[in-house]
Amino acid sequence: MDDKALFLKAQSVLDNAYAPYSNFKVGAAVLTKSGKVYTGVNVENSSYGATICAERSAILSAVSDGEKDFAAIAIASSSGEAYPCGICRQFMYEFGDDIRIITGEDSDNLNVHTIEELLPKGFRLK
Ligand code: THU
Repeated sequence: MDDKALFLKAQSVLDNAYAPYSNFKVGAAVLTKSGKVYTGVNVENSSYGATICAERSAILSAVSDGEKDFAAIAIASSSGEAYPCGICRQFMYEFGDDIRIITGEDSDNLNVHTIEELLPKGFRLK
């Protein structure tokens, strides 16, 4: 699956986001190295800190299905281009240092970064 198709997958779940507090809907689609795609959305909570971002939601779904090797993750939002938050960057880094992160205003204007670019010197327990 190419970057544009993965971004469109992320966009396709945007309506499922549960974001009544921020009204900032986010959809994510993570592509495994084996070619599977898992989607996720942000799920907010009355106790704001309990909110889960779309990226972690997608990755949790993949890991729950036994997938931990990721090639790329695309992120779409209802409010323009959205880059992953710091917690999500660290969450991605846990599973390898070569995941590609795809963002964009729309599917014809994508930006692609590596996790090393977005999270230099990420934390790992040794
Ligand atoms: N959000 C994400 O889903 N992913 C990010 O990387 C940034 C923020 C969500 C969390 C919250 O529901 C809303 O966007 C506003 O912060």
